[in-house]
Amino acid sequence: MKFRSIGLSLRFIVPLALVLALFGYLVIPLMDNFTVRWFVRDLDMRSQLLARTLQDPLVEYLPMRASKRIEQLFDRAIQDERLYAVGFCDPNGVLRYKTATYPASLGCWHPLVGDPEKKSLVRLPQGPVHVAESEITQDGVDLGRLILVHDMSFIERRSADTKKYILGFFALLALAISLITVVIAHLSWRGWISGVKEMLRGELMPRAKAETPPEMQPLAGDVRQMLRDYHLDRQSEGNTGGEWTGDTLKALLQQDLAGDQVLVVSNREPYIHELTPRGIEVRRPASGLVTAVEAVMRACSGTWIAHGAGSADHQTVDRHAHVRVPPDHPSYTLRRVWLSPDEEQGYYYGFANEGLWPLCHIAHVRPVFRSSDWEQYVKVNQRFADAVIVEATSDNPVVLVQDYHFALLPRMVRAVLPKATIITFWHIPWPNSESFGICPWREEILDGMLGSTILGFHTPFHRKNFLDTVDRYLETRIEQEASTISYGGQLTQVAQYPISIAWPEDNPDAISVDECRARIREMHGMPPDHLLGIGVDRLDYTKGIIERFQAVERLLELDPSLIGRFTFIQIAAPTRSSLDEYQNFESRVRKLAERINQRFSAGNHAPILLKIEHHEQDQLTVYFRASEVCMVTSLHDGMNLVAKEFIAARDDEKGVLILSQFTGAARELHEALIVNPYHIEQGAEALQKALSMPPVEQRERMRSMRRRVKDFNVYRWAGRMLQDAARLRQRDHVMSKIDFHSRVAARRRA
Ligand code: F6P
Repeated sequence: MKFRSIGLSLRFIVPLALVLALFGYLVIPLMDNFTVRWFVRDLDMRSQLLARTLQDPLVEYLPMRASKRIEQLFDRAIQDERLYAVGFCDPNGVLRYKTATYPASLGCWHPLVGDPEKKSLVRLPQGPVHVAESEITQDGVDLGRLILVHDMSFIERRSADTKKYILGFFALLALAISLITVVIAHLSWRGWISGVKEMLRGELMPRAKAETPPEMQPLAGDVRQMLRDYHLDRQSEGNTGGEWTGDTLKALLQQDLAGDQVLVVSNREPYIHELTPRGIEVRRPASGLVTAVEAVMRACSGTWIAHGAGSADHQTVDRHAHVRVPPDHPSYTLRRVWLSPDEEQGYYYGFANEGLWPLCHIAHVRPVFRSSDWEQYVKVNQRFADAVIVEATSDNPVVLVQDYHFALLPRMVRAVLPKATIITFWHIPWPNSESFGICPWREEILDGMLGSTILGFHTPFHRKNFLDTVDRYLETRIEQEASTISYGGQLTQVAQYPISIAWPEDNPDAISVDECRARIREMHGMPPDHLLGIGVDRLDYTKGIIERFQAVERLLELDPSLIGRFTFIQIAAPTRSSLDEYQNFESRVRKLAERINQRFSAGNHAPILLKIEHHEQDQLTVYFRASEVCMVTSLHDGMNLVAKEFIAARDDEKGVLILSQFTGAARELHEALIVNPYHIEQGAEALQKALSMPPVEQRERMRSMRRRVKDFNVYRWAGRMLQDAARLRQRDHVMSKIDFHSRVAARRRA
C-alpha cells in the first residue's frame, strides 16, 4: 500500500520537479542579464554626476597645468568605494592625468558601438569594469575627456548570490507545490475510492440508500449497467451450475416444465431431403442455429417446424407434413411448412435477407425494404404461427422461436395461445436504436417480438440495444434492473444467453489428428510439413472473407519464406445465392483469391484454396484437426459457432484460433488471438504469430478455451432459457391462483 502511494506521489512530483528545474534553467540567465543592465544604468548615472562635480575644479586646474592638484582631486574621488580609477585625456588623445589605479590597457578609451547598455562594460585581467567618458569644456572650447572607471566585480558577486537565491527559491517552491499536490492528490484519491465504494454499496445493497457522490455521477450509469449484466449472468449461471448434457436438459423438462410439449420454429430445417442422381439424399444445412438447436431437440423430443426447402422434402413427409428425424435415430418430429416461390422470395430473400439481415449487421451493405416483401413476411409469419397452433397439443406449450425470420410470430401465437411460454432467440446482432429506426415497420416488429415470454440475445450489448430500441419507439414500462418490458399488460423478460455447441463425446474411433493432417495434405498434393490455415463460413459478406484473404496476402509480403509452404483453405458454403449482393460477393471473393494465387503461387502450391461447396460436419472436423490455424474474421456476428467447433475438434490441444473482435464469441474466448478484421496488418501479424506459436502456448490457450466451451455448451444455453421459462410459468401459475381465490372470495362477500 505504501509503495503504491509512493509511486502515486512520484507520478506528481517528478514531472513537477522537472518543469521547475527547466524554469530555473531559463530564469537564471534572464535574471543575470537584467541585473547587469540595471547596474550599468546606475553606474552611467553615477558617472555623469561625478563628471559634473569634477568639471569645475578641472576647468580651473587644467589651464594652469596643476598636475598635483588634479591628481589629488582624482585620488579624493576614488575614495568612493565603487570608483576604481580616473583618467584625463587631452583633445589630442594623450592620457595626461590618471590615478595610480588607472588600467594601462585602457589608455584613452572610446566606447564601443553596439548595445548602449553593454558598450561601457570592459573585461580587464583584474576583473570587469564599467568605463564612462565625459567631455570637459570651457566656454565651448574642448579641454579633453574625463574617463571614469567603476569596479564591476561586485556585480559578479551579486549575480552569484542571485543564482543561489533563485535556485533556493525554486527548490522551496518545488517542495511546497509538491507537498500541496501530493496531499491534494491523496485526498482526492481517497475521495474517489470511497466514492466508488459508496456507489457500489448503493448499487449492490439498494436498501443502504447510499447517495452517489456528485463526482461519481458520470461513472454511475456504466457501473450500474455492468453490475446488472453481472447479476443477470450470475443469476442464470448460478442456477445452472454443474455439467450440462442432453440428459440434464431432459430431466429439467420433466421436472420443471412437467414434460410440457416443446415446439421449435425456424426458417431453416435441420434435415433437407434432396433428389440426386443417386436417389434421395439427406443433407445438413450450414447453419449455426441448426447445429445448436438440433442438439437440444434430440434431447427434448418435440416438434420442429421449418420451411421444407429440399427438392425431395415433399416426398419424404406424411400427410401432416411430418417426418421423424434424425434419419438414423429418430427422436423428434420435423414438421415442414411449404412456401410458394413468391412467399419465399418476399419473406425470406426479400424482407429477412435484404432488409433485416443487413439492418442488424454492421457490414456496410444497405438494407432494402419493400412493401411487397413486408406483406409476404407478415403472411408467412402467420402461416408458421398457424402451424404452431395446429401442432400444439395443449394450451401452454413451450415454443422456441428462432431468429429474425419470425419477429411477428410470437404475438400471433400469443393471440391464440395466451398461456404459451414463448421463448424467442435472436441469433444475429441487434443494432442500436437509431440504426434500427430506419426499418419502416419497426413498431410492428417490436410489437411482434414482445409477444414473447422471454427474448434472448447472445450478448449484453445486443440485449441493451434492444431495450433502448423499445424504449425509443414503443410506449412501454422498462425495468432496467430486472431487464423486463411491460407492454400491453404483458411482461417480457429480456436476457442474454450466449449460444454454444454440443460438446463432442469421447469417440475412440475418431480419426487421429495425425491421420487428419496426413489425409488433407495428401488430398491436396502437399508435403507432410505444409502449413495450413482454415476458414469455414457461409459465403456471406458479413464473414470478413475478403479481409481474411488480404491478411494472407500481407502475411506473404511480410514473410516470403512462407510462399509455397503455407496454404489457407477457405470452405465457403453457398448461401442466398439468388440475391445480387451475394452473387457480387462471390465474384469478388473468387477474383481476389485468383489474384493472390497468381502473385504468390510456388510450384504446385497456391496460397489460397477456395472451396465454394457444401461440406458435412464430419468433413469439417477433419479440416479443423489438420490445420495449424483457424481464422474467424466476421465483420459482425451474433456469436459464430465455427470458432467453438474448431476448439471442440482440437482434443490434441494444438492449433490457434484467430477471432474477430466483432463476434459474440470474442466475449468468451479470450485466449484466441483477437483481431480487428478491418485491420489487414493486424490479421497478417496474428497469422504470423499463430504459425510460429510454441506448442506450450498453444496448449495453454486451447486448454482454457476447451474448458470454457465444454462447460458452457448448448445444453446450458437451452437449459438457462428453459429454467427461466419455468420460473416465469410458476410465477404466472401462482398469480392466477391468487387471482382465482380473490375472485371467489369477492363473490362470496357479495
Ligand atoms: O445464424 C443466423 C442465420 O441466419 C440462421 O437463421 C440461418 O439458419 C443461418 O444463419 C444460415 O442462413 P440461411 O438459413 O439463410 O442459409
